[in-house]
Amino acid sequence: MFDKIILAVDGSEHGLRAAKMAGDLARNMKSKDLRIVVAFDGIPSYLGEPNLESAIQARMKEAQAILHKAQEAVGNVPAEIHTELIEGSPAEAIIEVAKTRESDVIVMGSRGLGRLTGALLGSTSQKVVSHAPCPVLIVR
Ligand SMILES: Nc1ncnc2c1ncn2[C@@H]1O[C@H](COP(=O)(O)OP(=O)(O)OP(=O)(O)O)[C@@H](O)[C@H]1O
Ligand SMILES: [Mg+2]
Repeated sequence: MFDKIILAVDGSEHGLRAAKMAGDLARNMKSKDLRIVVAFDGIPSYLGEPNLESAIQARMKEAQAILHKAQEAVGNVPAEIHTELIEGSPAEAIIEVAKTRESDVIVMGSRGLGRLTGALLGSTSQKVVSHAPCPVLIVR
């Protein structure tokens, strides 16, 4: 039923909880494919060299660390694990991957690294819930 899972993580506690749940889901459903997505902000090119290159490197390293932690939280799964580092808006990136990969479910946190703790859902999860092409599992 949930053969292809997309997990979205941003380095937040909620993201890690989503990763654990995606792992459980993949084990229980014997999913075939688990794709972990991290989107990062683009870096303005007016920064110029050599700063631009080092700023990009730093972002990539940060995103790699987030992916690594998420993989640990997922644990051992029968599914094949893929990772995607995407530059740009997180919601658009998640939706785009879900469309192109024809995923069966998106797993993500209700909140992330944002500091506005009043809202029940962060803006990324709100946008994904509204526009996703498949069911979305929001982890609290
Ligand atoms: N850059 C990102 N890459 C991948 N997934 C993300 C990213 N940002 C958020 N997410 C996913 O969306 C979930 C909810 O985060 P969201 O950004 O909506 O909340 P927030 O950071 O608290 O609020 P806001 O960003 O609106 O200030 C996260 O737990 C994570 O699963
Ligand atoms: Mg956020």
